[in-house]
Amino acid sequence: MAELPKADGTNLFDVVGLKKYFPIRAGLLKRQVGAVKAVDDVNFFVRKGETLGLVGESGCGKTTVGRAMMMLTPPTEGYVFYSTPRQIVRDFAELLRVVRGVNKGKMSRAEALELARLIEKILGSGSCTVDEDKKRQICRGAVAIRAEVQALGPDEKVGGRERAVQDLVDDAMTEIVERYCVNYKRKGEVKRLRGKIQFVFQDPFSSLDPKMLIKDIVAEPIKAQYRYIDRHRWAAKPNPAAKDRMDRPYKVRKPEVIRTRVIQLLEKVGLNVEHMYRFPHEFSGGQRQRIGIARALSVDPEFIVLDEPTSALDVSVQAQILNMLNQLQNEFGLTFLFISHDLSTIRHMCDRVAVMYLGKIAEYADKNELFARPTHPYTEALLSVIPVPDPDLKRDRIILPGDVPSPANPPPGCRFHTRCPLAVGICKVVEPPLIDTGGEHFVACHVRAPAPGIKAQ
Ligand SMILES: Nc1ncnc2c1ncn2[C@@H]1O[C@H](COP(=O)(O)OP(=O)(O)O)[C@@H](O)[C@H]1O
Ligand code: SF4
Ligand SMILES: [Mg+2]
Repeated sequence: MAELPKADGTNLFDVVGLKKYFPIRAGLLKRQVGAVKAVDDVNFFVRKGETLGLVGESGCGKTTVGRAMMMLTPPTEGYVFYSTPRQIVRDFAELLRVVRGVNKGKMSRAEALELARLIEKILGSGSCTVDEDKKRQICRGAVAIRAEVQALGPDEKVGGRERAVQDLVDDAMTEIVERYCVNYKRKGEVKRLRGKIQFVFQDPFSSLDPKMLIKDIVAEPIKAQYRYIDRHRWAAKPNPAAKDRMDRPYKVRKPEVIRTRVIQLLEKVGLNVEHMYRFPHEFSGGQRQRIGIARALSVDPEFIVLDEPTSALDVSVQAQILNMLNQLQNEFGLTFLFISHDLSTIRHMCDRVAVMYLGKIAEYADKNELFARPTHPYTEALLSVIPVPDPDLKRDRIILPGDVPSPANPPPGCRFHTRCPLAVGICKVVEPPLIDTGGEHFVACHVRAPAPGIKAQ
């Protein structure tokens, strides 16, 4: 589990312990014989209004992270907190760490006390918006258990009370995740959230339905979301900050309102009214990606996952699309998760960058910090091969030996040890935790960012 930053306030998303395993099935009965560990215990956060870049080689799990955050693929494990007070996320992550560390049937007195303390701290906090009755009930339980366990001797096991502690932890975690985590919300609530989170797909050729007119493609999310847009976002309390934004179609089901909105959206992305009655095959790759962006914007989202939005386009068109995305972000106050395998694009677009390797985050920091001081050997290797526009500047390119191992059978310990030039004995056995090396620069490496209590040798 990663150390979480100390900043107060609220992030738009906090991803805690996210895992996505795809089952591998074989034989006549399609029995599960293994799993592709596409995303394996990933932790990061996205601040409101920023662009977080997710970079890594093909197949390292970037798309799966984006899809899991949007609930297009349900995560195997983990929590995607949405607009949750930072302290609650920190305490929840700590609670999870203690729960995962408990040796079943052998819970210690200290562990039981710590679990009860954390539950009281989270649910007793004024910023926690879990139902008041539930909060009171669970906190009373935590106080009672704490008193019972405190009466035990310092080295005594919790014994028969372990079950009660586990039940209390289950109740508390259920209340918290149902209140704050997008992947534990009820169906209707998920549908409402989908309007706030949109996805722009990698391939502009397959992501638009070839049988639909552009006007219908762009209007599709509005029609699917009208109930939620109407009730929860557009028709709700007027937002003075949004005055200059596009007209809010209050009665979004009316055809003339949808038509006006579609025209506005097309103009926003550099197309116009005459494109409405055409089919996707009549457009170039860049134009199709613009249509995809208009479709994502149609429901006035807060957050957009941009999955390699320019990798299928010519370089000149790439620059136009990236600049347009920057403008749209400023105009609408959008937050982006920008997925790419290209570090030059990431450098142009992002505020902070997370580097992924084989389903895990290797390093994650502010963009300028990461490019100036790459700390993880994998980041160093990635940065060393970016072309620089200076023929006299000599750079030592780091060419990594071997191929990326299969996510179905990742190496033990540090996943990068089979290719790492700095690997030492411990790297093959112990997985390095993601450590804050200062100023929210997170690194997972025994040599470059040793965790307290783990000796690199
Ligand atoms: N639906 C799926 N079923 C099985 N394996 C999948 C599925 N989606 C992705 N994977 C596997 O998960 C790993 C990560 O994939 P992905 O997230 O698409 O990587 P990236 O976007 O970084 O290229 C890959 O090994 C891929 O083969
Ligand atoms: S933990 Fe070891 S193998 Fe992994 S990146 Fe650091 S030095 Fe290399
Ligand atoms: Mg991908």
